[in-house]
Amino acid sequence: MKISARGIQMPASPIRKLVPFAEEARSRGIEIFHLNIGQPDITTPDTFYEQIRKSFPDVVAYTHTAGIIELREAFCRYFRRWSLEYDPTQVVVTAGASEAIIFSLGAVADPGDEVIVIEPYYANYKGFASMLSINLKAVTSTIRNGYRLPPKEDFEALVSDRTRAVLFSHPSNPTGTVYTPEELERLVSFAKENDLFLIADEVYRELVFDGRDSCSIANFDDSERTIIIDSVSKRFSACGARIGSLTSRNNEVIGTCLKFAQARLCPPAIAQIGAVGLLGLPKTYTDQIRKEYENRRNVVFDELSKIPGVEMQLPEGALYISVKLPVDDAEDFVKWMLTDFSVEGRTVMAAPLEGFYETEGAGRSEIRIAFVLSAEKLRDSCKVMRMGIEEYSQL
Ligand SMILES: Cc1ncc(COP(=O)(O)O)c(C=O)c1O
Repeated sequence: MKISARGIQMPASPIRKLVPFAEEARSRGIEIFHLNIGQPDITTPDTFYEQIRKSFPDVVAYTHTAGIIELREAFCRYFRRWSLEYDPTQVVVTAGASEAIIFSLGAVADPGDEVIVIEPYYANYKGFASMLSINLKAVTSTIRNGYRLPPKEDFEALVSDRTRAVLFSHPSNPTGTVYTPEELERLVSFAKENDLFLIADEVYRELVFDGRDSCSIANFDDSERTIIIDSVSKRFSACGARIGSLTSRNNEVIGTCLKFAQARLCPPAIAQIGAVGLLGLPKTYTDQIRKEYENRRNVVFDELSKIPGVEMQLPEGALYISVKLPVDDAEDFVKWMLTDFSVEGRTVMAAPLEGFYETEGAGRSEIRIAFVLSAEKLRDSCKVMRMGIEEYSQL
């Protein structure tokens, strides 16, 4: 018996692969500030549980493959906030955005086909593509150009007869970039000119800072080429609920995704009920969350700015900052912080950024920090990180 080549090639998540080192540190009594994963510490709104209590089913039965109608309607009402009118038949509820991305990629690309991403990109795209034997091709954005959308020529240079789609997260994980309307128009015009699908991962849609307006790619291209990925994980701090969705005006895309969805029967039944409550929360709820993350972003940026040799861009949204450290190998540094370093029994775990790139060797000195802890804990974490960098540089 042997393991498939696909299984062997499947990359380990750079966000989770150093977890054994963290577990070992914890067993030595070390407290770890987990800045490696986008797991918010914010309490999940009560309405999630209230909704479940209100309609507690006698039998936890399978639901409709596309998700309960109440939740698909709730997604439609939600999209109306951005003046987007969808019908519940254009929404498929999924086990998180993750499953929605897998279904979408599977619907638009065959094994050996290519999908364009903008690196650094959400690292699990690599895993999803690998599961489906799809090849990712990356255009590169860099700290130095503020992680702005690369020029159209960079995208055009990657187009082949196997290119099927552009997959991107907006606001971006891991850079926090929020594209300007002009940049989004440019992305749309590239997709149109090359007849590509646009898979827009908008799980951080409302987490935009400094007075920016949130939007959907569908505000720029509301055609059959657009697939919107959504999730309750981040903005409602309900990552473990495993509720996401994909929305499209393209009947063939929806029909194909539904066939994939039928094979896995239905999304989590109880969590769907709770998610109806989450999506019904008023805009004031997300405004408050956005303010909290904006403050955390400021704290992290100010504290990291005190570390000599660090390069970064002020994140414009999402929950992350990508940071270039004055070290040669950030993964080695992150590991060392877990195995050999602590300050008063505490250390920090970040995510090495190399796994968020397609280009060999890119991002080797970079990490991603998720500002998902309280401002006070973030301040302490950055201090520990600063002391760690000082000591590591002298090794
Ligand atoms: C950009 C992006 N897309 C998708 C996901 C996965 O979301 P979900 O928990 O809904 O599967 C994440 C999680 O961190 C993410 O950052």
